[in-house]
Amino acid sequence: MQKNFTPIFRTVLLAAFLLLTACGTDTTSAVSTSVAAVPTQASAISYSSNIDPILQRSCFECHGGEKTSKGLSVATYDALMKGSQNGAVILAGEPDKSKFLLSILSGKMPKKGNKLTAEEIQLIRQWILEGANNN
Ligand code: HEC
Repeated sequence: MQKNFTPIFRTVLLAAFLLLTACGTDTTSAVSTSVAAVPTQASAISYSSNIDPILQRSCFECHGGEKTSKGLSVATYDALMKGSQNGAVILAGEPDKSKFLLSILSGKMPKKGNKLTAEEIQLIRQWILEGANNN
């Protein structure tokens, strides 16, 4: 009787070994997935290095520089988040409800000078979506 069990036992052992190997492979791919996810997080849009330069170049002249049209200033992060005399123009996490982005998308802003490029608009959109952080 016992001799009959041995091949079955071996098969079970082999199956267990194969399962473990498969799990090992899974763990490896899970690790490489999370490693690959790190650069994505690290590449979150930065207010100071990605957004502020665009605003200083395209909006500052009329919003915080020579003029502060509608009370809106892009001079600092706090001023920008305070919004205009009508209130907030950026709703963190909601780019499509943010007057700031909508005014650019509609072509209304900047009122004069070069329009923003598609990449710049996408950066602003993504930054608002990520929470419009002071990062
Ligand atoms: C040449 C001047 C000028 C530039 C440059 C400019 N704006 Fe304006 N902006 C104005 C004026 C004037 C108004 C108020 C009258 C109007 O709405 O047209 C205004 C109004 C706005 C408003 C509406 C505020 C409110 O609550 O009513 C937003 C939002 C805005 N600008 C965003 C921007 C952004 C974003 C940029 C840069 C991409 C920009 N503006 C560049 C002149 C300018």
